[in-house]
Amino acid sequence: MRQKLVAGNWKMHGSLSENRALLGELRAALADVRNMACAVCVPFPYLAQAQDVLTDSAIAWGAQQVSEFAKGAYTGEVSASMLLDFGCRYVIVGHSERRALFGETDQVVAAKFVAAIGAGLTPILCVGETLSEREAGMAESVIARQLDAVLNVAGMSGIARAVIAYEPVWAIGTGKTASPEQAQAVHAFIRQKLAVLDMEIAGRMIILYGGSVKAANAAELFSQPDIDGGLIGGASLVADDFVAICKAAQF
Ligand code: 13P
Repeated sequence: MRQKLVAGNWKMHGSLSENRALLGELRAALADVRNMACAVCVPFPYLAQAQDVLTDSAIAWGAQQVSEFAKGAYTGEVSASMLLDFGCRYVIVGHSERRALFGETDQVVAAKFVAAIGAGLTPILCVGETLSEREAGMAESVIARQLDAVLNVAGMSGIARAVIAYEPVWAIGTGKTASPEQAQAVHAFIRQKLAVLDMEIAGRMIILYGGSVKAANAAELFSQPDIDGGLIGGASLVADDFVAICKAAQF
């Protein structure tokens, strides 16, 4: 059985004082969580704080993006080895907001993915279609294209070191969750696509669902056979909600 993972994506929220309270509450409330993994992906400036509060806890931490470059004259960028310096285990790669708002192409996402695994980080690779792509019947072809861009440079051995997150763009921050059946269908598609290349790796791949996951819908989503947990935006900023979502992933 695959272990479930629930990761919070704080996006550009928080402050030192707010985070101290939130991280402290999560650390205490999730101390006895069993049979699942949890993590929070915080803005870069708060990685040191996450490391400080969460070291030796049940909660791992990570960043929300990473440079594709290792070092050099790239003003404003943060490399994978810098994230490692702050104890990160995870880094989100290819979030739809990065793709849509910051011009990250499939090729850039693939390069960031390679940089992350090269440093020993676990990328959380986000894929997902927009509403118009879904309505045009293109959801699977868009996701296949996003996966192929990474597979072309990292192969299945690279994918094996990552987590995949299916995040339909139309469900992010909209309150409109994919139904468990809709999400399961895409997760099964992703796993089957990978199984054509390597059945064993596909079988143990952790595939998260993200998009308006709440305490009220988490258990039903996570009970689908190919949904191995969630990538949580808004609800990860509220301790009680995030804790309830993590607990919904316990078996
Ligand atoms: P919401 O949970 O706020 O819809 O955000 C999902 C997301 O983008 C997580 O990466």
